[in-house]
Amino acid sequence: MFNAILLSKDDDKFSCQQVQLNIDDLPDEAIEIDVEYSTVNYKDGLAITGRPGIVRNWPMIPGIDLTGTIAGSQDPNWQAGDKVAVNGWDIGEQHWGGLAQKARVNPGWLTPLPDSLSTYHAAAIGTAGYTAMLCVLELEEHDIGPDKGPIVVTGAAGGVGSVAVAVLAKLGYEVTASSGRVETEGDYLKALGATEVIHRDEFSGDLRPLASARWAGAIDVVGSTALAHIISQTLPHGCVAACGLAQGADLPSSVLPFILRAVTLAGVNCVYEPPQRRELAWQRLSEDLDLAKLDMMTGEVGLGDVSQVAADILEGKIRGRVVVNVNR
Ligand SMILES: NC(=O)c1ccc[n+]([C@@H]2O[C@H](COP(=O)([O-])OP(=O)(O)OC[C@H]3O[C@@H](n4cnc5c(N)ncnc54)[C@H](OP(=O)(O)O)[C@@H]3O)[C@@H](O)[C@H]2O)c1
Repeated sequence: MFNAILLSKDDDKFSCQQVQLNIDDLPDEAIEIDVEYSTVNYKDGLAITGRPGIVRNWPMIPGIDLTGTIAGSQDPNWQAGDKVAVNGWDIGEQHWGGLAQKARVNPGWLTPLPDSLSTYHAAAIGTAGYTAMLCVLELEEHDIGPDKGPIVVTGAAGGVGSVAVAVLAKLGYEVTASSGRVETEGDYLKALGATEVIHRDEFSGDLRPLASARWAGAIDVVGSTALAHIISQTLPHGCVAACGLAQGADLPSSVLPFILRAVTLAGVNCVYEPPQRRELAWQRLSEDLDLAKLDMMTGEVGLGDVSQVAADILEGKIRGRVVVNVNR
């Protein structure tokens, strides 16, 4: 038997409970994992509070991240004892996810952990940190180096934002952190490496299609009006990496920044990135993310705390990352 969070929907009635399941309840996949850690990302918050559109199979073990040790493998490329992470591939949405002490997954979903990363630190990075690195790679691939000018990071005190600020600062970028919590999280964001912290209200109000240009690049996790303002303030040949919708899924922008300033809007979707790209991102995280800063942005909870954390993350109350120790 093992402990798990289970989301159910019976006659349209949603429930989220901590339960005990039998090992035989797990799906028939080739890799069995002793899960050590999962996390609570924004998407997990949506799933665990029963918002529509995330979970597509019921009942569901949520958790879009897991890290742990392979307990049994029917695949020649993986052995018992290997330390692995799974991020995305629809776990916690379509396939049972990480908020449990046991998981069975497809071998194609596994990422080997770089030697320097423990299962705890890999979970602390999780989908949020891995996505932040995919955004950094987009900026680099669009030739936005530290010499090109400041980078703005939105939702900076959240998971993706915190890792993005820390990594960009370590790489030598001048980082402006945009947050709705300047008073309470301003010092935290500066400690992560932000050169400047601005209030997210700066990206609201009337939108000028071409505003005065400030940013060589951006990592945006909020979408909507804020993203439109940032695009209109991006320098010629700048790049905006967009990965989130914490403010909204709309984009009230115009084509002018694209056709008059050659601005690039680079979309990032971490869920189905191929293994090579994932391994590159994880390798870069092991080199370019200071573990002391990762510890500064990470809190640890147990399975019993997950419902509360899920509600808090949707209200924008969580700082940085939350790791779930599934054995606690
Ligand atoms: N495309 C992908 O592959 C991918 C991968 C991971 C995450 N995401 C998306 O990226 C976003 C962030 O994920 P996360 O895990 O970092 O979430 P998170 O930890 O909750 O961070 C989101 C941050 O956005 C800001 N925010 C929240 N509500 C807002 C609002 N109404 N208006 C403006 N800002 C708001 C808050 O930052 P401040 O308090 O600092 O303002 C909050 O901490 C989510 O939309 C998530 O679904 C996408």
